[in-house]
Amino acid sequence: MEKIKIKTSDKRVVRTRGITLLKAAHPEIQKLKRRNLEPSIHGNKIWNSSFLIMDYLIRNRPPDGARFMDLGCGWGPLGIYAAKRLKQKVLAVDADPEVFPFLDLHAAINNVDIETRRLYFEKITKRHMKGFHTLAGADICFWDELTPILFNLIRRALRSGVKRIIVADPGRSPFYNLAERCEQELPADVEVIERRTSTPRRASADLLVVRG
Ligand SMILES: C[S@@+](CC[C@H](N)C(=O)[O-])C[C@H]1O[C@@H](n2cnc3c(N)ncnc32)[C@H](O)[C@@H]1O
Repeated sequence: MEKIKIKTSDKRVVRTRGITLLKAAHPEIQKLKRRNLEPSIHGNKIWNSSFLIMDYLIRNRPPDGARFMDLGCGWGPLGIYAAKRLKQKVLAVDADPEVFPFLDLHAAINNVDIETRRLYFEKITKRHMKGFHTLAGADICFWDELTPILFNLIRRALRSGVKRIIVADPGRSPFYNLAERCEQELPADVEVIERRTSTPRRASADLLVVRG
């Protein structure tokens, strides 16, 4: 892994919950952008809901060494937190391959190994999910067409033995439709939990937690 030095006093560096993240204006991010890497399905920054999932997970820890899938990972804040603070073996998946250099950069500055794979939610099979304890995705249910796609993914995950699936969102209607379908149609323990934080910035999100 390439060693990259980051000055934590730099205002373009965010230190939170024991991990280090870079703002879009940071020179290392700008360097990637100059290589014409431009994620196109909103994977163009660190989104806030990931912080609320981190806070939930530290209080509801998966077992050390368990397998964790970061769904729609973008720049990878959640997967990096899971690897670094929760000792998870992380696979980060995203439909957009242009997010991975940004994730690799963050993995390098946080000294963690994250496996990445280009996969659409609709193409994640039961075989891909076998042996995973947790699947989690922050800000991934933002279009109406993603509701049935994520519902089917959660159902497949339960059937493949995944113990817990978490999706967080600041309050878009496709997310609430997903939560409602899970509550009504899945033979599982389904909860929607409201969370707030003020660090690294003020944010709130609802967490859909489905337990197999
Ligand atoms: C709003 S971003 C959130 C990124 C990251 N989870 C975070 O918290 O910073 C949504 C991510 O979902 C990915 N995505 C959107 N639709 C997808 C699909 N059908 N399959 C897999 N990934 C998808 C996008 O490429 C993007 O990286």
